[in-house]
Amino acid sequence: MADHLKQDRPSRWVVRFAPLMPDGEVLDLACGGGRHARLLAGLGHPVLAVDRDAAAVAATAGDDISALQFDLEREGAAQAPGWPLQPLRYAGIVVTNYLHRPLMPALLASLAPGGVLVYETFAAGNGQFGKPSNPAFLLAPGELLQMTMAVTGLRVLAYEDGYVSEPAPAMVQRICCRRDAGSVLPAALSL
Ligand SMILES: C[S@@+](CC[C@H](N)C(=O)[O-])C[C@H]1O[C@@H](n2cnc3c(N)ncnc32)[C@H](O)[C@@H]1O
Repeated sequence: MADHLKQDRPSRWVVRFAPLMPDGEVLDLACGGGRHARLLAGLGHPVLAVDRDAAAVAATAGDDISALQFDLEREGAAQAPGWPLQPLRYAGIVVTNYLHRPLMPALLASLAPGGVLVYETFAAGNGQFGKPSNPAFLLAPGELLQMTMAVTGLRVLAYEDGYVSEPAPAMVQRICCRRDAGSVLPAALSL
């Protein structure tokens, strides 16, 4: 079994902040084996879990979890049937251990008013502990905070950037932010 399917326990960051998500559909993007999709379903949400890996999708699908095999990075993905990042759709979004920067504008725009994003992934310096070590997959210092603060209507509730020892030594950034209730998207992102 692939390593990303073996991870079973949810991230403590996600466990801490997922309860802030209001009622409604939530998204687990690049869900892997579905540890967070199951957590979110357990909190009473209908969950859409997306991954390009067929084995991940099969492992994740279940009661209250719709699992979709979809390559988020392929050319034309945003125009393809099933594209999950529709404006103002989700009461909550979880992304862990996955980074594809071009998705960020659509990802942040897909939070509904009052919706909560919980994001955690590897940061610069992680190479000293193992993979990922490719800078394309590592956040630069402060990057996750800057990406979210650049969006009008998003309020940062918590942010950390640095070394963690659990579940394994790593450099990570993690954020929890909420779209203000009543905030609307800029016209450029509204379609
Ligand atoms: C390190 S795993 C993290 C899985 C899960 N988020 C977790 O933390 O348990 C990264 C996941 O991203 C998925 N992934 C990578 N590239 C993808 C893409 N282009 N489209 C959709 N999923 C992708 C992989 O299949 C894998 O399941």
